Amino acid sequence: MFALANATRPHIAARVSDARKDTIDFGFEEVRTADKQERVRQVFDSVARDYDRMNDAMSAGLHRVWKDMAITKLNPQPGERLLDVAGGTGDIARRFVRAADKVRRRRGGAPARAVICDINDEMLLAGIDPRKDSGLDLTRVCGNAEALPFGDAQFDAVTIAYGIRNVTDRRAALREFHRVLKPGGRLGVLEFTTPPEPLIRKAYDAYSFAVIPRLGGAIAGDRDSYRYLVESIRRFPKQDQFAQMMRDAGFAGANWTDYSAGVTAFHTGWKIA
Ligand SMILES: C[S@@+](CC[C@H](N)C(=O)[O-])C[C@H]1O[C@@H](n2cnc3c(N)ncnc32)[C@H](O)[C@@H]1O
Repeated sequence: MFALANATRPHIAARVSDARKDTIDFGFEEVRTADKQERVRQVFDSVARDYDRMNDAMSAGLHRVWKDMAITKLNPQPGERLLDVAGGTGDIARRFVRAADKVRRRRGGAPARAVICDINDEMLLAGIDPRKDSGLDLTRVCGNAEALPFGDAQFDAVTIAYGIRNVTDRRAALREFHRVLKPGGRLGVLEFTTPPEPLIRKAYDAYSFAVIPRLGGAIAGDRDSYRYLVESIRRFPKQDQFAQMMRDAGFAGANWTDYSAGVTAFHTGWKIA
């Protein structure tokens, strides 16, 4: 089952309370804080149609492995309700519900459900696939991570995969994730990072700056958007800094696991109360 709720563009003004500065990074560019959200929206409007194909091409299919590893760590259970923020075409949400279903076949219980929330309706629409969605309880909602359109304590798990670096006010988003989680719920943040090992970092930089924008040009006809995506990874906080931001937002046990030598990292934390 799937539904597209609130599918109009939200045009939600960036809440800059915690971003504090007048300007903010947009890749390697500094832009007005109030403009970042619109610039990010333009990027994902432009890449939505080719997003899944580009993900496979850029990562040689590795993003699927990282997402599988993240879901295994989250350990979805029957009857749970997931909120996948910046959920895009729905990869994480489908994996979560399917993994809970596997457990359900052995132990019984209610099916898991997932809400895919994204600020960009083009990404949500690009992800609707009756074949892949069949038998899964998925709902699609257009909304901003910084001001989630959900009540308090509604979800057993919140995820955001390759989305948090695009959010203008990340601290506000983390507070929102904490607010909508039930006590005892868990947060999982999958994000590209900077590999700590200098040689690997050098090779990875060479690949990402030289190859990815070219692939974006060849496959999606949009070199600039993919240059932004690469640059935004370099501007994202290091793993320990992001873990501290999670603690500041109230998450207990905030920690991370590096995947593929730190090309990507999976951060987890718990809402205790
Ligand atoms: C790189 S895609 C990731 C999509 C998906 N999670 C995945 O792993 O394939 C980033 C997504 O973040 C969404 N996004 C950016 N800023 C957002 C915000 N403030 N609130 C909600 N979604 C946002 C974009 O529209 C885009 O779909």
